Amino acid sequence: MLALGGFSAAEIRLILDTAKSMKEILHRDIKKLPTLRGKSIVTLFYEPSTRTRTSFELAGKYLGADVVNITSSTSSIVKGESLRDTLYTIEAMNVDAIVMRHKAEGAAAYAAKAVKPVIINAGDGAHAHPSQGLLNLFTIEDKKGKLEGLKIAILGDILHSRVARSDIAGMRKMGLNIHVAGPRTLVPRFLLEEGVVVHDRIEDAIEGADVIEVLRIQLERMKGGLFPTTREYARIFGLNKERLSLAKEDVLVLHPGPMNKGWEISPEVAYSINSAIQEEVENGVAVRMALFTLLLTGGATDDKFN
Ligand code: CP
Repeated sequence: MLALGGFSAAEIRLILDTAKSMKEILHRDIKKLPTLRGKSIVTLFYEPSTRTRTSFELAGKYLGADVVNITSSTSSIVKGESLRDTLYTIEAMNVDAIVMRHKAEGAAAYAAKAVKPVIINAGDGAHAHPSQGLLNLFTIEDKKGKLEGLKIAILGDILHSRVARSDIAGMRKMGLNIHVAGPRTLVPRFLLEEGVVVHDRIEDAIEGADVIEVLRIQLERMKGGLFPTTREYARIFGLNKERLSLAKEDVLVLHPGPMNKGWEISPEVAYSINSAIQEEVENGVAVRMALFTLLLTGGATDDKFN
């Protein structure tokens, strides 16, 4: 499970429908299924994470798997062990799946070729974050009752965003109308070729939107100043209450987190009645349970899942 680009609408539908039944389990008193009893999963994170790592861990545990977490700062990676040797070491322990986040684009694809366990990409550089793309689709459908024909405005730092790439790959397949806007330095123009509508003014993208997704400004991936100051960014590109009013009244606001509140999104919008940012986190657990189930129990027949 490396990226959403190769998935058909039917394959995405299978994941979303499976996640729907998983969400019901999250609301039970005893959140435990025997589906993955006897399976072992390692999460291998070379970059920080709160939502993705924790939700993959909980998803595995709720399904009865044994889950072990490795982070770069507390493993032999700090002693200089290479990615290949780290993967070989984990493989030697006969694990069934490795959930992996790495700063290098293509790291998960490399791992999938190098070792036998199922590899799930939990984010590789600015390339892909497929489970986030899926949980966004799930959240939109859960709240809006449909996907086809909805207008989504994706705002901000698209250049560095693996979330935006996975969103666009999945949302195109599921029939959403995708609009993007942000500083010219942060909105790659090749998106035009992919059928995405690119705006310079975020107001034009927001106009009449059913869904707005605000992206995090990824200062840690920026080598030079790609916008003047965060105050200027907030003034011209931040989602505030006034700009929100340009969208449909029942517009859904998403953000993958963590948020730079006061920069890309105002606190009053982040915690408004339109916000589904907390639901995204809950749905992330359900979607990751669905992925584990499909990948580790033979439910997925297409090799794109692997
Ligand atoms: N959305 C997301 O990937 O968040 P984390 O970095 O906290 O996992």
